[in-house]
Order: sequence, then C-alpha cells, then structure tokens
Amino acid sequence: MEFSHKPVMLYECLEGLNINPEGIYLDGTAGGAGHSSEIAKRLTTGRLISLDRDPDAVAVATERLKDYNATVVNCNYSEMDMALSDLGIDKVNGILMDLGVSSYQLDNAARGFSYHYDAALDMRMSKTGLSAKDVVNEYSYADLSKIIFEYGEEKFARNIANNIVKAREKYTIETTLELAEIIRNSVPQKFRREKNPCKKTFQAIRMEVNGELTHLSEGLDKAFDALEIGGRLCVITFHSLEDRLV
Ligand SMILES: C[S@@+](CC[C@H](N)C(=O)[O-])C[C@H]1O[C@@H](n2cnc3c(N)ncnc32)[C@H](O)[C@@H]1O
Repeated sequence: MEFSHKPVMLYECLEGLNINPEGIYLDGTAGGAGHSSEIAKRLTTGRLISLDRDPDAVAVATERLKDYNATVVNCNYSEMDMALSDLGIDKVNGILMDLGVSSYQLDNAARGFSYHYDAALDMRMSKTGLSAKDVVNEYSYADLSKIIFEYGEEKFARNIANNIVKAREKYTIETTLELAEIIRNSVPQKFRREKNPCKKTFQAIRMEVNGELTHLSEGLDKAFDALEIGGRLCVITFHSLEDRLV
C-alpha cells in the first residue's frame, strides 16, 4: 500500500504559510510527507519538524524527508510543545495541520477504518489504546447514540445505537463489515440509496477512538503558543465539526 503523493490544497497552504527559507516550520500531520516535502524544498538554512501520531506515517515521512533539514517525530500534535522543547526550539514561523485520516489509513484494510473492506474493527491512528471494537462493544446505548449523533451528525443515531446494543447481546461485533451491516439495517430504505449509510457512523466512531476534537482543540492552543509574532497557521479541515473549532 502506497502513501498518496498528492497533497490537498498545496498551493493554498504554501501561499498561506508564506515560507521564509530561513525559518522553522512545523507540519503537525506529516502523513506521506506530501506537504512536508514541499515545505522542506523551499527552505535553505531553515528547518522543518514533522509530526504524526501514526508510526507507519512516521516511517514513510522519515524516508521521504531524509535529504532535507527535517526531523520527523512520532507524536500527537497536541504535544507539539514537548516535541519542540525536546529539539531545543522555542518558536516557529509557520504551522500546518491537514486534519483527519490519510488515504493510506483509509485504504489499508488492515487498519480497520473502512466500511468497504472486511477487517478487525480498529481505527486507531496511533495503533495504541482504545479501539473501535472496544467502543462498539463496551459503550452504553446512551454514549453510542450521543457520539453517533454529535460526531457523525447522523439523524438515525438512536436506531443505530439500539441495533448495535441488540446485536452485541448475541455476539461480539468484531469486524468492519459486521458493523456496516448493522448500520445499513438501522437506516430506512430510502436513505440507504442516497449515499453510503455507514459514512457518518464510521466517522463518529473514528473520532471517538482517536479523541480527534479534543486533540484538535489542544493542538490549536499549542500552535498559537508556538508561533512567532507574525507567524502563520494553516489548517485544512474536512467536516463542519472541525471547521467550527478552527
Ligand atoms: C490527511 S493526512 C495528512 C497527509 C499529509 N499532509 C500529506 O501530504 O501526505 C493526516 C495525517 O495526520 C495524522 N494525524 C491525525 N491526527 C493527528 C494528531 N492529533 N496528531 C498527530 N498526527 C495526527 C494521521 O495519522 C495522518 O497521517
């Protein structure tokens, strides 16, 4: 499985960051190093620090950035203050955050993010801690329906949560396709045709598993603290919950 080479909104990010070739930049979401490589290329005496919580992304980004003055760190962007202080850096000139999951994470069946492939329910970007299987099998009806409603903005959240609870009375929900089947059967027929009925619930469970909004909120605060006066912050968001926070 290859990491995609096409960084999203590259031109806008480079323009927004207004890169000083002698400056220090932080990419909070290295992924396949698409944006990171383009930033690194524009530096002369400057330096790039790229973070990712996913060890697979860190391995790929480290390889792709090896010819530049770049350091890749396996950590959450909500801990960028510690990553910077470990490197002896006080302030940076620009920060980029390209939120959400990478296409590599989504398309790699084994990571358990996708309702298109059968895999163990996992969805952990960092490959540690609470998994999607834990959330689906252990959270109360009330918590599941709240998460699916709030993070997925799913109007059938209560139905879906109810059917998850009923299903797990009979068996442990182990796989992405078992969960997808429960969701499909919880959504009225006419809504199933519009778009994939699993999208919102999978997004919601992924956001819970990875604590995405909590980390984003902390990451934004830390980013403001880490920026030099006149520094730039660019954030690429993918859905309205991220938009509102940013
Ligand atoms: C959309 S991809 C970034 C793609 C990257 N800009 C590129 O051009 O290849 C998002 C990446 O951010 C990472 N990520 C998401 N939330 C994170 C967080 N709180 N801290 C650190 N990395 C995070 C994911 O593991 C994923 O690799």
